[in-house]
Amino acid sequence: MLKKKISTKEYWNDRSHKFATFYENPSKFDLIFRKGIFRRFERALIVCNSFNTPTVLDIGSGPGINSINLLKHANVSHVTGIDFAPKMINYANQFAKQSSMTNLCDFIEGDFMKHNWRNNKFDISIALGVFDYVDNPEDFIIKMAKISNKAFVISWPKNGIRMLLRRIRYTCPVYYYTEKKIYSLHNQCPSVKEIELYKGSAGWVSVAYM
Ligand SMILES: C[S@@+](CC[C@H](N)C(=O)[O-])C[C@H]1O[C@@H](n2cnc3c(N)ncnc32)[C@H](O)[C@@H]1O
Repeated sequence: MLKKKISTKEYWNDRSHKFATFYENPSKFDLIFRKGIFRRFERALIVCNSFNTPTVLDIGSGPGINSINLLKHANVSHVTGIDFAPKMINYANQFAKQSSMTNLCDFIEGDFMKHNWRNNKFDISIALGVFDYVDNPEDFIIKMAKISNKAFVISWPKNGIRMLLRRIRYTCPVYYYTEKKIYSLHNQCPSVKEIELYKGSAGWVSVAYM
C-alpha cells in the first residue's frame, strides 16, 4: 500500500525524539553506516575553526546537537539555529540549557526561506542533512550565500541503494544530487569565490568561500 506523504516539517517534528537520541546514544550500526552524519559535522568544525570567533547560522538545526557542539569544540562566538519543527526547537533549547550555553546561542522556530532576516548576516552558515528535503535548492543556496559573510557548508546526498531505501521508507519527499548539479548550484551565487567538495560514502560536503 502507498504511504501517505506528509510535509518535511511534520516528518521531522514526529521524529525529533528519535533523532535527538540517535546523537546521544549512537549504536554500532549508526557509527558504521551513518558515519556521514559525524563526518559532515567534522567538516563544519574545521571550517569554523579556520576563522577567528565567527558567528554561525545553523539552518535546519534539528535537536541543536551540532549547534551546541560547535560552541563546545570550535572557536565560535555565537550560534543561531533555525528549524521549522517545533519539537526540534524544544530539544535544542533544552540541550542549550543543560549545556549552560543559553547565552551563546538562540533557536528560532521558522522556515529559513520565509523567516524575515532583516539585514542580519552571519560569518558562516551551515545546512547539514537539510538539502535532502529542499524542493527548491536554487533559491535556498542563493539565500545562504546572501546571508553568509565568509563561508557556507552544505551536505548533499547522492543517489544509490541507500537513497532508494530512504525514498521508500520516508513519508516526506527526499532529494539527491550529482557533482555536476552541486557545482551548477554554486555557480548561481555570484559572491562565491571558491568551492571545496569532499566526497563520502553517502554523498558530498561542500564548503563555499566568499
Ligand atoms: C535530518 S535533520 C538534520 C538536523 C541537523 N542539521 C543535524 O545534522 O543534526 C533536518 C532538519 O532540517 C529541518 N528543515 C528542513 N528544511 C527546513 C527549512 N526550510 N527551514 C527550517 N528547517 C528546515 C527539519 O525540520 C529537520 O529538523
